[in-house]
Amino acid sequence: MASSKLELLASKKAQAQLGGGQTRIDKQHQKGKLTARERIHFLMDEGSFEEIGMFVQHRSTDFGMEKQQFLGDGVVTGYGTVNGRLVYVFAQDFTVFGGSLSETQAEKICKLMDLAVKNGAPVIGLNDSGGARIQEGVKSLGGYADIFYRNVLASGVVPQISAIMGPCAGGAVYSPAMTDFILMVENTSYMFVTGPNVVKTVTNEEVTAEELGGASAHSTKSGVTHLTAVHDVDCINKIKQLLSYLPQNCEEKPVKLAYTPSDEIREQLATIIPESANQPYDMREVIEGIVDEESFMEIHPDYAENIVVGFARIAGRSIGIVANQPVSLAGVLDVESSKKAARFVRTCDCFNVPLLVLVDVPGFLPGTDQEWNAIITNGAKLLFAFSEATVPRVTLITRKAYGGAYDVMNSKHIGADMNFAWPSAEIAVMGAKGASEIIFRKEIKEASDPAAKLKEKELEYADKFAHPYRAAARGFIDEVILPEHSRKKLIKAFAMLENKVDSLPKKKHGNIPL
Ligand code: HXC
Repeated sequence: MASSKLELLASKKAQAQLGGGQTRIDKQHQKGKLTARERIHFLMDEGSFEEIGMFVQHRSTDFGMEKQQFLGDGVVTGYGTVNGRLVYVFAQDFTVFGGSLSETQAEKICKLMDLAVKNGAPVIGLNDSGGARIQEGVKSLGGYADIFYRNVLASGVVPQISAIMGPCAGGAVYSPAMTDFILMVENTSYMFVTGPNVVKTVTNEEVTAEELGGASAHSTKSGVTHLTAVHDVDCINKIKQLLSYLPQNCEEKPVKLAYTPSDEIREQLATIIPESANQPYDMREVIEGIVDEESFMEIHPDYAENIVVGFARIAGRSIGIVANQPVSLAGVLDVESSKKAARFVRTCDCFNVPLLVLVDVPGFLPGTDQEWNAIITNGAKLLFAFSEATVPRVTLITRKAYGGAYDVMNSKHIGADMNFAWPSAEIAVMGAKGASEIIFRKEIKEASDPAAKLKEKELEYADKFAHPYRAAARGFIDEVILPEHSRKKLIKAFAMLENKVDSLPKKKHGNIPL
C-alpha cells in the first residue's frame, strides 16, 4: 500500500494535482504567504507528518466542476508531532478553489477532529479560505455546521488552535471563534462576518478589509485574536510555543520542564512599588521577577491592556497568569478586561494549568459607558470563572485590592488556595481619601479647616486599612511576604498544590452570565 501511494505521489499527474498548480502557488508566495504544505512543513517535527485523505476529491457536478479535480480538495489534513508530542493539523490550500470549503473538505476536517478527540491530542487549524465553496451551495454550509458542532464537542477536551493565514469570512469565522486560541498574520489575513462591500451597502461606511478585520483590528479593537504574527513562520513558531504550556487533553497535566533549584531570591522585586500609591508601575516587571527566565508568553497583549494574561513557567511548571496592570487605566477592571481575563481563566481551568493572580486593582471603572455596556454582567464573568476554577489557584496582592475587585481577583472567599500579600498591600473597601470623604463628611464639613481635617481622617483610615495585616489576621491572607521572597514562596505553593483534587457540585453545567 505504502509503495503504491509513493508511486502515485511521484507521478507527474499527482504532482500537478497536489496543489492548484505552479501559477497559483507563485501567486500565494507573491502575497507573502506560504502554501498549505509549506506551513505544515514548518509546523511539524521533521519527517513526522502523515497525511490523511490525500486522494479525496469533491463530488460536485454543477458548473462544470466534474472537470476540475485536485487531489485533497483544497485542504491538507494529517497528524504528526510538534516537539515530540502528537498533534492533528489541517491546512486549507488557497491554491485550490481559494481553499473554499466543499462537502468533502469538511468531511476531511471532521474526520481529523474525531480522531483528535478519540486520541486526546490538540487540533491545529491553518485557515486560508474564501469561505463556503460557492458551486456547492447548502452542502458546503452543512459542512461548516458539521465542523462547528465538533468544535463545541471538542471544546475543553483537547486544545484547539486556529491560525488565520489568509481570508476567513462569513460564517467561516465561527469555527476559529469557538476554538481556544486564534492567531492572525499581519497584512495577509483578515476575518469578518460581512466584508467591506456589504458594510458599504448597509451602513455606508468605507473601510478596507485590513481595517475591518485585519490582525491589527482584531488584536486591539475586538479582542477576537489572541496573538498576531509578522509572517507565516512567526505564526507557526507562536503556535509551537503555545502548545508547550498546554497538556494534550483535559485528562493530563501540562509537561513539566526540568529545573535546577537556586536561592530563588529576586532583589529586583523589592524596588518596583513606587513611593506614592497613585504612581503606576509595570506589572510585567513583577511577572518577570517571579517566573522562570524568558518563560512568559503574553496572550492578548494589545487588547484591554489594564489586565495582563499569559502563560509562564515557575520552576519548570506551566502556569497561567492574570494580573492587573497599573500602567493602563490604573489597573481597573472594566468590561473588556473582565471578559479577557474570564476567558483566560476558563481556558487554564479546562486544561489543568494552575493560576497565579497578581492583584493591584483600585476597583471597577465607573461611568455610563461601563454601566450601559453591562459591567455588571461582564464583571460577573470573571467572578464566575474564578469561582468555578478547580485548578491550583494562588494570589499575590502587591498593592491595592479595593472593593468588589478584591473579591473578584481570586480572593480566598471564592476558592483561592493560597493568598499572599506584600507589606505594601492595601485591602479595603476603597482608598483612604474616598472613604474619609464619605464616612467623615459631617466632621470635615464642620471643621474650621476642612482640608486639614480630611487629611487627618485620611491618615486615620489609612492607618487602619492601608496594609495587609487585618486581612491576614482573619486568615484571608495566608502570609505577608517580602517582595524579594515572592518567587521562592510561589514555587513552594505551586509544588504543594500539585496534586490538588477539587470538584464542583454535581450539575449539568453552570450558567455563566454570557
Ligand atoms: C469557490 C472560490 C471561492 C469560493 C475563491 N474562490 N473563493 N471558489 N468558492 N468561496 C476561487 C476563485 O474563483 C479563484 O479561482 C481562486 O479561488 C482564487 O480567488 P481570487 O478571487 O483570485 O483570490 P483573491 O483575489 O486573493 O481574493 C480572495 C477572496 C475572493 C477575497 C477570498 O476570492 C472572494 O471574495 N471570494 C468569495 C468569498 C465569499 O463570498 N465566500 C462565501 C462567504 S459566505 P480561479 O480559478 O480564478 O483561480 C460563507 C458562508 C459560510 O462562507 C457559512 C457558514 C455558516
